[in-house]
Amino acid sequence: EKVPLSLKVNGKKYKLSVEPRTTLLDLLRENLHLNGTKKGCDYGQCGACTVHVEGQRVNSCLSFAVMHDGQEITTIEGLADGDKLHPMQEAFVKHDGFQCGYCTPGQIMSAVACVREGHAGSADEIREYMSGNICRCGAYSNIVAAIQDVKQ
Ligand code: FES
Repeated sequence: EKVPLSLKVNGKKYKLSVEPRTTLLDLLRENLHLNGTKKGCDYGQCGACTVHVEGQRVNSCLSFAVMHDGQEITTIEGLADGDKLHPMQEAFVKHDGFQCGYCTPGQIMSAVACVREGHAGSADEIREYMSGNICRCGAYSNIVAAIQDVKQ
C-alpha cells in the first residue's frame, strides 16, 4: 500500500504517494526524473547516489523515501544558480575532476559537504572525507585539487 509523502527537492515542493520500500534514490530518479543522481552499487559502497538531506550528505540508495517526509533534499540538479555553475562544479571542470563522469554528481555533492563541514583542511583530510565516493577512472588527485581550489 502506498504512503503519502511531502518533500522539497531543489526548492520545489512535491506531494507524492510511494511504496514504503522505495529508496530515496529510486524516488528521485524514477518518480521525479532527476537522473543526475546515479545508481552505482545500490548498497552503500560507491557514493554515486550521494545527495544532501537537510544539508547533510546521504547515500540515497540506503534510505527509504518515506523516512524523509517534510524534509529538504538537494541533488546535483539543484546546485547551479540558473546558468551559473556552483563553484565546486566550476572547479571540477577546471581541474578535470572526472573522466567518464558517472561518479561525478555524487563526488560533487560530497565535495560540497566536505568544504561546508570544514573537512578540507589538508589533502589527507579531503581524501578521508571523500573515501566513500569511488571513481573507477582514478581521477582522485584531480578531485582533491578541485576541492582544495574551492576551499581557498
Ligand atoms: Fe548508493 Fe552506490 S548507489 S552507494
